[in-house]
Formats: sequence, structure tokens, C-alpha cells
Amino acid sequence: MRVGVAAEIKPDEYRVALTPAGALELTRQGHEVVVEAGAGEGSAFPDSDYERVGARIVSLDEVWASSDLLLKVKEPIASEYGRLREGLTLFTYLHIAADEPLTRALLDSGVTAVAYETVETARGALPLLAPMSEVAGRLSAQAGAYFLEKPLGGRGLLLGGVPGVAPGQVVIIGGGIVGYNAAIMALGLGAQVTILERSIDRMRHLEEILSGRVTLLMSSTLEIAASVAKADLVIGAVLIPGALAPKLVTREMIADMNEGAVVVDVAIDQGGCFETSHATTHSDPVFVVDGVTHYCVANMPGGVPITSTKALTNATLPYVEAIAGSGLRAAVAADESLAKGVNVVAGNVTYEAVAEAHGLDYTPLAEVL
Ligand SMILES: NC(=O)c1ccc[n+]([C@@H]2O[C@H](COP(=O)([O-])OP(=O)(O)OC[C@H]3O[C@@H](n4cnc5c(N)ncnc54)[C@H](O)[C@@H]3O)[C@@H](O)[C@H]2O)c1
Repeated sequence: MRVGVAAEIKPDEYRVALTPAGALELTRQGHEVVVEAGAGEGSAFPDSDYERVGARIVSLDEVWASSDLLLKVKEPIASEYGRLREGLTLFTYLHIAADEPLTRALLDSGVTAVAYETVETARGALPLLAPMSEVAGRLSAQAGAYFLEKPLGGRGLLLGGVPGVAPGQVVIIGGGIVGYNAAIMALGLGAQVTILERSIDRMRHLEEILSGRVTLLMSSTLEIAASVAKADLVIGAVLIPGALAPKLVTREMIADMNEGAVVVDVAIDQGGCFETSHATTHSDPVFVVDGVTHYCVANMPGGVPITSTKALTNATLPYVEAIAGSGLRAAVAADESLAKGVNVVAGNVTYEAVAEAHGLDYTPLAEVL
């Protein structure tokens, strides 16, 4: 199969969908790999690294026109819609339930589109979203610690303290993948960490894997208000699958916080869990409300593309190998998780939630593939 790698063109997006290490695995399996010129540069992979492992560097037109399977990171944007075509399988983050123009473009073009974010294991895990949550969680503690510095508008507090001086208080709301990863970074910095969770089973698990080094509290409005008021850094990491994030921290709670405290709303990509949040970018990441610095970058992994690209491609490569190796039809027949990723096939919506979101007909995958 000819596997193509397109360059990302969205602002602030430096990731690439395949590393040279992944390209080597594919060429060794007998596939042809074509990479758009410069596609890996933002992640510190020059074209020569791909050429060295047997990939061919091609133009934007060629990568879209000649690939059987095209790998991307972000969804196609309007200027790319005209390049979608029958006979092409696109494998990327799509998020089309929230994007009607893209859904139409995919359907009209006849392309087959497989979405990273809807690949789902039998236990309900999302293996192609998890690595980005790990990155965002770890980055959230680091970003929070940075913006607590006085010259950056923060309280002027070192999260780890020093011998004889108390450490800072970090409060994490939501103890899933983001929350756990935020906690281990904050613990590593020497902070005192509290996690507020709604699931008792998840808290039992966190107690075990964190060896009792964090305070675990049942999440409630009262407990959130009390914890937030004492915090130096609050990290919002809740997720209710398929829904907007609940506004768990009100404007009054923010006003109650210490001057110069920091909040990091990782859940901003689902609308945010602080009433005062709005999405920001890496080039302008923070704003201040009632003396509290808000960091609400919607694509946090984009800020550390070397790590994010490797983490993402570690997770996607087995699926890429399966599709390239046996074709999409056989690959989805052999793997239920991958089958859940298929959103659009030849003008049909094959993912129920997408059909529902846009009032379109849903066609079960088995009928079209
Ligand atoms: N900004 C970014 O760049 C970025 C990157 C990755 C993930 N995210 C977002 O981070 C959020 C968390 O993702 P995740 O992968 O950790 O999800 P996850 O499902 O692993 O964890 C979410 C946790 O929130 C808990 N929760 C739900 N309601 C709660 C409540 N009221 N109080 C306390 N806890 C509650 C759940 O029990 C669960 O443990 C999501 O909104 C995700 O989209 C953002």
C-alpha cells in the first residue's frame, strides 16, 4: 500500500502523523511511504530522516493525489476539502460530530474516513486520545508552576517549597488520565496534591497507584469551593463523555482564591470546567480574572510537538500497520476497536453519534465495507 503523510497546516500545529521510526517499520513491511516535504520539521524530523529510512519526499499535490492511506494529525480544513476523493482512506483526528461542513465534505467526496478519537476498546478506553491526555496532564502542572512566578503575574511561589518553607497546594478536579498525569508531575515538583473525583472506584485505584501520596476527596460543590479557596494552582481535568464539561468552579470561587493563584483548564476543549474560562492559544496562553491567572490552551500537546508526535504515533502505528497490511475491510473485521474508528465510507455515515449530531442517516459499517 502507498502510505502518505501530509503536512499540518492549522495554526500552532507542529505535530506530524508518522515518525521516521514508523516510516521504517512500514517500508520494511513492503509498503511505499511518501511524505510531504517539510511535514516533520515542526517535530524536529527533517526530510532527510525520512529519506534515510526509505520514504520518498513529495509535493503537497502528490501526497494527497497518490496515497492509498493518508495519515494526518488534525482534521482537514476548508482549503483541503477539494483534495478529498474516492479511493482514499484518511486516518486522522476528525471530531466531525461538531463540524458539519467537514462532515458534508467527507460525504460528498466519497473518501473513507477513520477518526483517531473514536477508536475504542471493548472496555471503553480511547487508545488514540489517551497519549494526548497524558501529555496535556503533565504539561498542565508544568505550565501552572511557571505562571506562579511573580514576574509572570503569579503569586511568586515555588510549588516544591524548600526545607523550612511549606510547598504549594495543587488541586486537581477530575482524576482520569489528565488528572493522574498532572498529579505525578505536581508530586515530582514537591507540591501537596489534592484530587477531587466523582468515581469512588477511580479514587481507590488512584490511592493504590499513587501510594497514598495525594489527598483524594469526593467531588462536590462544597468540597470544590473549600479546596479551590486554599489552592495555589487548580487544574481542571474532568470529562463527561459526549457532553460539554460541567462548570464546576464558579466565578465566586475564583474571586475567593488568592491573588496571583493560577488555574489551568485542560477541559477547555470540551468548553472548560471554570465559569471564567475561554480558550487561548500557545502564542497568547493566559488571561487574568479577579487576580487569578487562567491558562486555557485548547491544544496543549501542540506546544511540545517532539513528545506529542512520538506519543501519538506510538499509539497509531499498530492500526496503520493493520490497515496497510491487510486493507481496511480485513483490518476492521479483525479488530472491533478499529471498526469503531470508521466514521464515513463512500458517502455513508457509519458512526451513529455523527449521524445523530447532523440529522443524517446512519449506515452500519458491515453494510458498506
Ligand atoms: N486542552 C487540551 O489540549 C487537552 C488535551 C487532552 C485532553 N483534554 C481534555 O481533558 C479532559 C480530561 O480528559 P481525560 O482523558 O483525563 O478524561 P478521563 O475520562 O480519563 O477522566 C475524566 C475524569 O473526570 C471525572 N469526573 C467527571 N465528572 C466529575 C466531577 N463532577 N468532579 C470530579 N471529577 C469528575 C471522571 O470520573 C474521570 O475520572 C477532557 O475534557 C479532554 O478533552 C484537553
